[in-house]
Amino acid sequence: MAGLFITFEGPDGAGKTTVLSAIAEQFKTAKRTDILVTREPGGNQISEAIRNLILDPKNTQMDVRTEALLYAASRRQLIQETIRPALAANKVVLCDRFVDSSVAYQGAGRQIGEDAVFQMNQFATEGLTPDLTVYVDVPSEVGLARIKAHRANVDRLDAETLSFHKRVRAAYLRLAKQFPDRIVTVDATQPVATVIEQTMTLITNAMKQR
Ligand SMILES: Nc1ncnc2c1ncn2[C@@H]1O[C@H](COP(=O)(O)OP(=O)(O)OP(=O)(O)O)[C@@H](O)[C@H]1O
Ligand SMILES: [Mg+2]
Repeated sequence: MAGLFITFEGPDGAGKTTVLSAIAEQFKTAKRTDILVTREPGGNQISEAIRNLILDPKNTQMDVRTEALLYAASRRQLIQETIRPALAANKVVLCDRFVDSSVAYQGAGRQIGEDAVFQMNQFATEGLTPDLTVYVDVPSEVGLARIKAHRANVDRLDAETLSFHKRVRAAYLRLAKQFPDRIVTVDATQPVATVIEQTMTLITNAMKQR
């Protein structure tokens, strides 16, 4: 039996982290020891250091391609140190963001080009692709309003303009159309309990099918 690689994607404030924590808690209660929860950028010492560099509000002079390369570098380290070993040990890996985030944020949001960012990431991933991607979808205004309502500190990416966030969401919708077998959309304007329940069903079905 092979491991299972599941990623969570969606615009800022869609509820990725909320849903993922709830699901991790349910697996913990069920005493499942074969589940690994991680996040991007970060998840280990080197990747977390890169994360801090990327998100630091002081780094206003960071070039857009530098930023894209740093995300890919952080991702590479997470894959090598954490994701591949867990998959090799037949674990279910649940990852908060992956390559689709770079395509959406750097490719479309920063306008480097979605295909260029995808190709550059192939070098970092050596083709590692999620078995399932849960795309939690909300209109940009809804996601941003949630973040403003609940978070005291706003990082460098949160502070981007509404048009940036709209480009990001449009790219996610294109990706969902482009990869219908991998990406499943969950309507995250629904109550959080419903979003969690629907996501849990997707994950348990994927676990049964592997
Ligand atoms: N379905 C929902 N309905 C209403 N509020 C929600 C819902 N899901 C999450 N929230 C709230 O929205 C805020 C943002 O959620 P969360 O941090 O999980 O989003 P995220 O997708 O991880 O965002 P980011 O991309 O910034 O990490 C939180 O305060 C959370 O409680
Ligand atoms: Mg989050």
